[in-house]
Amino acid sequence: MTNRYAVILAAGQGTRMKSKLYKVLHPVMGRPMVQHVIDQLKPLQLDETVTIVGFGAETVKETLGNQSKYVIQEEQLGTGHAVQQAEELLKNKEGTTIVVCGDTPLITNETFEALFKHHEKEGASATILTAQADDPTGYGRVIRNEENEVERIVEHKDANETELQVAEINTGTYCFDNQALFSALKEVSNDNAQGEYYLPDVIEILRGKQEKVTAFMTENIEETLGINDRVALAKAEKIFKKRINERHMRNGVSIIDPDNTYIQSEATIESDVVIHPGSIIKGATIIKENAEIGPNSELVNCEVGEGTIIKHSVASESKIGDRVQIGPFAHIRPESVVGHGAKVGNFVEIKKTVMGEGSKASHLSYLGDANVGSNVNVGCGTITVNYDGTNKYLTTIEDDAFIGCNSNLIAPVTIGKGSYVAAGSTITEDVPSDALSVARARQTNKEGYVTKFKNRKRD
Ligand code: UD1
Ligand code: CA
Repeated sequence: MTNRYAVILAAGQGTRMKSKLYKVLHPVMGRPMVQHVIDQLKPLQLDETVTIVGFGAETVKETLGNQSKYVIQEEQLGTGHAVQQAEELLKNKEGTTIVVCGDTPLITNETFEALFKHHEKEGASATILTAQADDPTGYGRVIRNEENEVERIVEHKDANETELQVAEINTGTYCFDNQALFSALKEVSNDNAQGEYYLPDVIEILRGKQEKVTAFMTENIEETLGINDRVALAKAEKIFKKRINERHMRNGVSIIDPDNTYIQSEATIESDVVIHPGSIIKGATIIKENAEIGPNSELVNCEVGEGTIIKHSVASESKIGDRVQIGPFAHIRPESVVGHGAKVGNFVEIKKTVMGEGSKASHLSYLGDANVGSNVNVGCGTITVNYDGTNKYLTTIEDDAFIGCNSNLIAPVTIGKGSYVAAGSTITEDVPSDALSVARARQTNKEGYVTKFKNRKRD
């Protein structure tokens, strides 16, 4: 196989995004768009990937890390000038170089592979990935001669009336013979509407040298969307969302309303999971068989066990066991572990808390920094008082304990195995196992008080 290299163009500021965040770092379904490009290039087994960075170079490099080599384009003089910056790194190489824009995040690996194959089969010097656009506005147009051969690409801003009618667009992705690319780039000028060195001009230059130039037209026009503004960004989000949802549905996940379900690409969802409308599943969340998520729930980097039900709730960075019931309106905050068969019910917030198997906090509680054993019942309104304004302290509730409603457990404190805490208690000292702890003012009833009070003499 010929050697394969990639150049990713990511130096532009993305003025049309009107953002402080550099364009190629804008997320599409939670992943920076340039990361999507790298994800899709990965399976091609490239010998070298070079990303051209400029605006926000440090941030882009930090985001992509060692997935690529980098070259700085100090001044953004155009896409041709950008590719030229890779010359030092690539000029001695023999093989095919794919050039991709960092702002076309939807092109799939299959399309890249098909482009390479076409290019290699044709023995071409350059192959442009093109598409037939419904609305070609803003894109470079592919100009062909009477023999239908590609002659050149004309940018929208430089095109005349006839050229503007052409629907075949340059997607901004190309395969080049590496040597031919760098020699042609030397001849690119900036004599055009934008005063930029255009990479697409290489096509006409190569033709002038009698080199073979071809186009590979993809059927998947959706993939070729270039993101220049937030309108296109939202379109990309929609397309990507649909792609992910359809993958899960084909794998046996029921998604009741795919238009209103947002699943980021790293999530793993097993078959027979049901996802209700308004659910957002982020990060490397894992959802096991038969679980039911939503409606209106957000999971961030969570593991959710088999048959667990999560309704109208938010959970992040936590592990939730099998057959657990969460919500409605529960908040599972980071570093929590909810055991099999447990329940975190309505208006319950847990943080950095372990709930043992079969334990229940069914209503209106805050459990923070707590270690709850198995089969514990946490009554309505129970609060672990974990913070004294400076430090956080641990509450331990051992197996089978029963915490009465509206109790304050002032940490650090341990509630022993099988013990009872009476409703309304404020517990400041450890409760031994098997004990009943009552920590509230004793009730006094003053008989006949009300009538006496009402009839009292007023002078
Ligand atoms: C470009 C193509 C156009 C094509 C379209 C597809 C050119 C001149 N035009 O237009 O034919 O239809 O993509 O989406 O190439 N960049 C740099 N350095 C620069 C300029 C740009 O790295 O000096 C990077 C940008 O960060 C971006 C990519 O190159 O990721 C494309 O640049 P952009 O300005 O978006 O080009 P378009 O006008 O979309
Ligand atoms: Ca663009």
